[in-house]
Amino acid sequence: MKVGVVGLGAMGAGIAQLCVEAGVDTIGREVSMELAESARDRIGHFLTRKVEKGQLEQAARDDAVGRLSLTTALADFADCDLVIEAIVEELAPKQQLFAELERICKRDAVLATNTSALSVTEIASATSSPERVVGMHFFNPAPLMPLVEIIRAELTSDDAFETAYAFGEKLGKHPIRCYDTPGFVVNRVLIPLLNDCIRVLDESRVTVEDLDAGMKHGAGWPMGPCELVDLVGIDVHVHASDALYEKTHEPRMAAPPRLVAMRNAGLLGRKSGRGFYTY
Ligand code: 3HC
Repeated sequence: MKVGVVGLGAMGAGIAQLCVEAGVDTIGREVSMELAESARDRIGHFLTRKVEKGQLEQAARDDAVGRLSLTTALADFADCDLVIEAIVEELAPKQQLFAELERICKRDAVLATNTSALSVTEIASATSSPERVVGMHFFNPAPLMPLVEIIRAELTSDDAFETAYAFGEKLGKHPIRCYDTPGFVVNRVLIPLLNDCIRVLDESRVTVEDLDAGMKHGAGWPMGPCELVDLVGIDVHVHASDALYEKTHEPRMAAPPRLVAMRNAGLLGRKSGRGFYTY
């Protein structure tokens, strides 16, 4: 089996890491070889940490890294059995990519999107074979979070759906089946909840640290909401909130002004070195 991953940002690199760790030959595509190589370096770093911690043999680490090839050309995906897309969260580029993948890939290749808040059905509508398009939504950080949502779009075939589900299991994930509704399952709940947390910051005048302590120690969250939004990326969270608000018109989905201001100021969380916290 050969898998293609398009986009090697935080999510795509995490997904590619899972694939090569599961013994699957994987090709990753980025817009430049520099970006692709820096993603492979990050994957190599995380796998080295596993070796240092005694969770992985050195030889297995080297084999895993060796299973990842890199390209800037989609044409190299012609022999992939499954392609997972993890590019920018915008509909038009995703639609354009799926139309290209349809032309390039084998007829029976399954085409999956890792979108978090766009409609899988709308992405699939750019192809003439929407039955092979499915959602595979991983959670950040993909190598650590056990869940993957397997999303059935309006025209997804049973075969494509079950192939994606089985692949989620092969990666060692806990897949769940759901339909293509705004936010699917987890983000439908988590995004308005995180937005509520941020509004509470202003309403109850709690500090960032105390809000995080509150949700960790009072609700059992593994990390506080501010830490989590910093991890996901303030821009990514605002973008997902906007997309869900546009679809549902539920006020709780709308990004709180405080987060929009942070996004506009370039306070994007961990990746920019500053968000609610400084890194
Ligand atoms: N990729 C690969 N490996 C990684 C990694 C990454 N991005 N980040 C960390 N690791 C590795 C590191 O090697 C690290 O070990 P090291 O620090 O010794 O090098 C190892 O994982 C373990 O990391 P931690 O010690 O930090 O692990 P924790 O036990 O603290 O757990 C956590 C970290 C799993 C992130 C936990 O805090 C957690 O579950 N947080 C909640 C995360 C969450 O809710 N995510 C969902 C976000 S919503 C989303 O993704 C939806 C999207 O659509 C927006």
